[in-house]
Amino acid sequence: MTYRIAVIPGDGTGPEVVAEGIKVLNAVAGPANLAFDFVYYDLGGERYLKTGEILPDSVISELKQFKAVYLGAIGHPDVKPGILEKGLLLRLRFELDQYINLRPVILYPGVETPLKDKGPDDIDFVVVRENTEGLYAGAGGFLKYGTPDEVAVQSSINTRKGVDRCLKYAFETAMKRDRGKKLTLVAKTNVLTYASDLWFRAFEAMAPQYPDVTTDYAHVDATCMWFVKNPEWFDVVVTDNMFGDIITDLGAIIQGGMGVAAGGNINPEGVSMFEPIGGSAPKYTGQKKVNPIAAIAAAQMMLEHLGEAKAAAAIEAGIKKTATQLQSMAAGRMGYDTTQVGDMVAKYAAEALR
Ligand code: IPM
Ligand code: MN
Repeated sequence: MTYRIAVIPGDGTGPEVVAEGIKVLNAVAGPANLAFDFVYYDLGGERYLKTGEILPDSVISELKQFKAVYLGAIGHPDVKPGILEKGLLLRLRFELDQYINLRPVILYPGVETPLKDKGPDDIDFVVVRENTEGLYAGAGGFLKYGTPDEVAVQSSINTRKGVDRCLKYAFETAMKRDRGKKLTLVAKTNVLTYASDLWFRAFEAMAPQYPDVTTDYAHVDATCMWFVKNPEWFDVVVTDNMFGDIITDLGAIIQGGMGVAAGGNINPEGVSMFEPIGGSAPKYTGQKKVNPIAAIAAAQMMLEHLGEAKAAAAIEAGIKKTATQLQSMAAGRMGYDTTQVGDMVAKYAAEALR
């Protein structure tokens, strides 16, 4: 089987970590009887600064023809905040209708967590973040811009269809997992009496279709506390776009930091896109200091999504074995450089398939 994959290395350290992910994919390809045809797209801050182009429509149509998209990072210090984020990353998520942002929070053995007395058995959950609506939909505007009477409105868009398809994916994710089959809805029903109310009613309405799944509800503020105090309570968490963005940074830090956290922008019926969630880390660009494990874990998620469970499991084994050998997951403190860490995962992943 040959998979055509679009690769967007992007900005900052994106290209460095993507190179390691590709290395690992190529290392498992032979032993797993797969082949990859990688097609690179030059998108990001540099291209925007040079040509003014962010994401040509023709590229969007081309991306729709791939099996998946593999993304490094978007964000450039010389570009005003919002331009690349909205014009490139969010536009890709929206145009490809990747309505799920799937973000596993797994503490690998040997990785240090800032949480006292918590280990890999306690930190193993997944956040299902809605990825096309909410505050990210871009609904709003200014009145009397720049004057003392200025008004800014930013509305959260929550459609019943959008909420239902996200909840369905979350229930099905809970069914597939082997950790108690518990699904926690995270919202803010005590204040967001319209948006969170819709989520809550839709959640209650869907639950009877999944009698094997235990349902729970937590306010988003309390969730931040429980992630730290009792992460073992969570199995699958489902939430809206903004809350999901915030709580997954917290999730990333309890699993060892941005160097480990990966995510998938999933369109179950279309083209999905996989990325490390840490951003472009511009101050480390070109220094081979950042941890490629997040990008490699994103490649693993891509293989899982493509149905290549064996190859994906081999990458996971490679990551776990490598993680125990690093001094730290943090940039510049791994005890190895970016390339060496990629080499280690590639070697161990290939060995796992022998
Ligand atoms: C993320 C990022 C993005 C988001 C930004 C860069 C638009 O923070 O993937 O979590 O808010 O979704
Ligand atoms: Mn984020």
